[in-house]
Amino acid sequence: MSANRPGDSFSSNFGMVAAAIGSAIGLGNLWRFPYLVGQNGGAAFIIVYLIITLVISTPILLSEMVIGRRGGGSPRQSYIAVSGRKGWGVAGIIGMVTCFMIMSFYVVVGGWTIKYLVLSLQMAFARGAQIDSVGLFSGFVGSSFPPIAYAGLFIVLTLVIICLGVQKGIEATSKLMMPMLFVLIILIGIRSVTLPGAEAGLEYLFKPDFSSFTFSSLLAALGQSFFSLSLGACMLITYGAYTPRSSNLVRNAAVITVSDTFFAVLAGCAIMPAVFAFGINPSEGAGLVFVTLPQIFTQMPLGGLCSILFFVALFMAAISSSVSLFEVIAASLMDICKISRGKAAAITGVTLMITGCICSLSQGVLKNITVRGMSIFDQFDYLSSNFFMTLGGLLTVICVGWFVKKRDFMDEITASGHLRVSGALASVLFFIIKYVAPLVIVGTAISIIF
Ligand code: TRP
Repeated sequence: MSANRPGDSFSSNFGMVAAAIGSAIGLGNLWRFPYLVGQNGGAAFIIVYLIITLVISTPILLSEMVIGRRGGGSPRQSYIAVSGRKGWGVAGIIGMVTCFMIMSFYVVVGGWTIKYLVLSLQMAFARGAQIDSVGLFSGFVGSSFPPIAYAGLFIVLTLVIICLGVQKGIEATSKLMMPMLFVLIILIGIRSVTLPGAEAGLEYLFKPDFSSFTFSSLLAALGQSFFSLSLGACMLITYGAYTPRSSNLVRNAAVITVSDTFFAVLAGCAIMPAVFAFGINPSEGAGLVFVTLPQIFTQMPLGGLCSILFFVALFMAAISSSVSLFEVIAASLMDICKISRGKAAAITGVTLMITGCICSLSQGVLKNITVRGMSIFDQFDYLSSNFFMTLGGLLTVICVGWFVKKRDFMDEITASGHLRVSGALASVLFFIIKYVAPLVIVGTAISIIF
């Protein structure tokens, strides 16, 4: 079954991998990973994160690609096609809703990155500049109109890429931006580790301290691994459907995971040494990249240039991920409402503008509206990461492990026998997908609830 319109596919395997890496590398790597490392015992967190990513997340990532490429349609259609049951379509709809929730706060933070990019271009963070970075940030995000305008701009930019289509929009921008992103983060990393006193930051990143690693750190590591690899929200099901028949899915899964994880560690190496060199508390939290880093830039040699490079990188990482979230929603709407790409993109954009506004205002005038002590913004973040993505991941592995025959799974990962994949590796992967991953996810969910 193939619901794709002509042109709705990647031109090559490299295009697919670049787009998937573009989705994976995002605010999660530059904004969330470093502060989670900071709050959860540095290297101890990284080690656990690596193990979870290798053992649990990579097989889930592979499962999503298997569903997408075998199904060949929107997430809803693909789930139905591979499982042979209509009811599984719900899983695709849940994925769309999840992406919508993530997008609602993602575009707000995306707007902040544009604002900070503009400020850095105005040399606001150049060495010697006098800024009150705490006041600047809280004043900006707490105001009403400016952050909404920037979020709107971010949505429009995403929309333009989506309307250009899979090859000319998503694939072309990812192929351009991903290599640049790696170069930028390495340049910033070099500056950061050559600051006097930077060793303490590297030691923090690479010397494990298991005393500040708690059970909640374990949950944070699992949640972050899902978020960073864009799992549990049908992203790779959507991109899987655009993947060439000859692509090696196991190798792609490995390349995507390694790139995303390597980038997260690089981001840690770019940020933590600078944080330590200036004697700042590493567990600053969500404000790390918008409050702490600008402060550091104003004190360090080449700070102005570094601030520009950093916010360009942050913006590119954010927009390529936003495109993938948007594409899941648009592809689903194209299928469910039988409308064109342009219309689906327009409906998505307008609806996101509304929910984005609410999330943005919840940092300011709507601050007092809280649900279980969390603002609407935090609630979207919390619910999508802890509930919806977990549920999505569970549905994915159950569908592949229990509703797809092992023979069909083999057929998919060997591209109908054209590729050689070791039988032992395939069996281990299938075992993890069928038993280990569902148990780990259910266990985690239960422990979150109690
Ligand atoms: N992975 C992205 C990040 O690290 C966020 C993201 C993009 C995402 N697409 C997704 C998360 C789909 C979940 C599902 O910032």
